[in-house]
Amino acid sequence: MVVVGLIASVLGIALGLIIDWFPTQGSKQAEKIDTFWDVLIICSVPFFVLVTTVVLFSVKTFRMRPGEEHLDGPPIHGNTRLEVVWTAVPAIMLVALCSYAYITLHDIEKAPAASLGPERQITVNGQQFTWTFDYDEGGKKFSSAQLYVPIGRSVKFNVKTKDVLHDFWVPAWRMKIDAVPGITTDYRITPTRAGTWPVVCAELCGLGHAFMRQTAHVVPQADFDKWVTKMTTRTAAPAPAAGGGAAVDAKALFTQGETTSGATACGACHKLADAGTAGGVGPDLDQALKGKDAAFIKQSIVDPNAVIAKGFNANIMPDNYAKLLSADEIDALVKYLGEVAGK
Ligand code: CUA
Repeated sequence: MVVVGLIASVLGIALGLIIDWFPTQGSKQAEKIDTFWDVLIICSVPFFVLVTTVVLFSVKTFRMRPGEEHLDGPPIHGNTRLEVVWTAVPAIMLVALCSYAYITLHDIEKAPAASLGPERQITVNGQQFTWTFDYDEGGKKFSSAQLYVPIGRSVKFNVKTKDVLHDFWVPAWRMKIDAVPGITTDYRITPTRAGTWPVVCAELCGLGHAFMRQTAHVVPQADFDKWVTKMTTRTAAPAPAAGGGAAVDAKALFTQGETTSGATACGACHKLADAGTAGGVGPDLDQALKGKDAAFIKQSIVDPNAVIAKGFNANIMPDNYAKLLSADEIDALVKYLGEVAGK
């Protein structure tokens, strides 16, 4: 039994540690959490194996054989030493692991040293079924559908929701917290690896839950600064002179989305003959916008729940386009749609 238990324990621990079960380790917090996980595996596998081996061994050795139906087992009145051991050992292990868990939690939630300067704060807004990230970079405020953070700098996410429960999760960073209506929850991470990682909603929040995904970009500080400049100057772009060439290519915006802020392309969900898009998530714009005036088209973009087309549901189209697109971009889209929809 001891030999079987030993072999099974070694195999179990090896399986737990050698196979790379987790996504890429992308933050300081992830390193601590993964180490914690490894320690848990090493401590718990031998006990699981021990219990299972004893159970299987007993079932085989002490099972009832034909003719023994009316026999009683031997009268056992307990074994104090054995009971003390099997109570004390798990108790000590539990207290030790809980203490280690507490220390790890304390470490990953700790604010960075004040000498590193103020910590970046990003407000994360969940809503059915999209994310919006609000930035305040040196007093310049803007919103983005995609998350950008510089590598190596601690960032605190203040997580909110406009409707139901969501859960803000970037698996590569490991940290994860519910977005709860009415309150602001938070966590912080320090990204250690550049790249693009999926942002996932980890709380069942309705029909579009599985599609409530975005991208987190971890970039060098210089690239982050460039992106901030792009985001802050984008909304301040001067309106094109009347009669001059349009500064915004509305058709490209419709089919490709706003790449700087990450706003999803209209064409991903809507059919529009002129743009050659075939999406069926939202209404066919050639029908829905036929003969409508500019005010209606604009309302449909910035306040999509105001009028719901027949056969479609409210809250499917994100209502964050007014935040993600500049005024010029919205005007250009309205003008474009007014010209081509239903033509
Ligand atoms: Cu939001 Cu699931």
